[in-house]
Amino acid sequence: MTDITALIRRASLVILGIGTAAAVIAMCPTRPDTTVRRGAEVYQEYCIRCHGDAGQGVGGVRRINDRHLWNGPIDSVIVTLAYGAKARRDGSYLDDRRLTMPPIPYGDADIAAVTSYLYETFKGRRIDVDANDVRAVKDRHRATLLERMR
Ligand code: HEC
Repeated sequence: MTDITALIRRASLVILGIGTAAAVIAMCPTRPDTTVRRGAEVYQEYCIRCHGDAGQGVGGVRRINDRHLWNGPIDSVIVTLAYGAKARRDGSYLDDRRLTMPPIPYGDADIAAVTSYLYETFKGRRIDVDANDVRAVKDRHRATLLERMR
């Protein structure tokens, strides 16, 4: 066998190997990466202006990149995103209008995507949140509000 034939044979084995690995990865029943990618897009488009590219917080907004923040219930994160938040009452900057987070102007699928992105990025944890989960949290939250109004 000439050197060149051996080289071609070796190269095709490598390509076969890569192809097989790609097929195995593609068959894994994990959440499609498009969800997290969409979450990253939403973050870049909308959240970054207040929370910064690394979650460090811009202009006095609380940082969201400390891991313990992500130990709490996921429901409260979704509620914050869907309905907004006010700066915490222990801060002296409560009167600063900039420090209010408005409800995000995105649909349930995007709220789910950005939630998955946040957990993956700031907690290093893969979770599967979809639009149905977001809807369920919203329904529970609304029921609580109605209960309180009675
Ligand atoms: C206009 C500015 C602004 C934008 C835009 C914004 N936020 Fe916020 N966010 C805030 C403020 C202010 C708070 C309340 C911080 C505090 O408690 O002091 C907050 C709170 C949060 C919290 C809860 C932190 C905690 O202490 O529990 C999370 C999580 C969060 N934001 C994520 C996001 C994500 C994700 C987006 C984009 C979809 C986003 N925010 C868009 C300003 C913003």
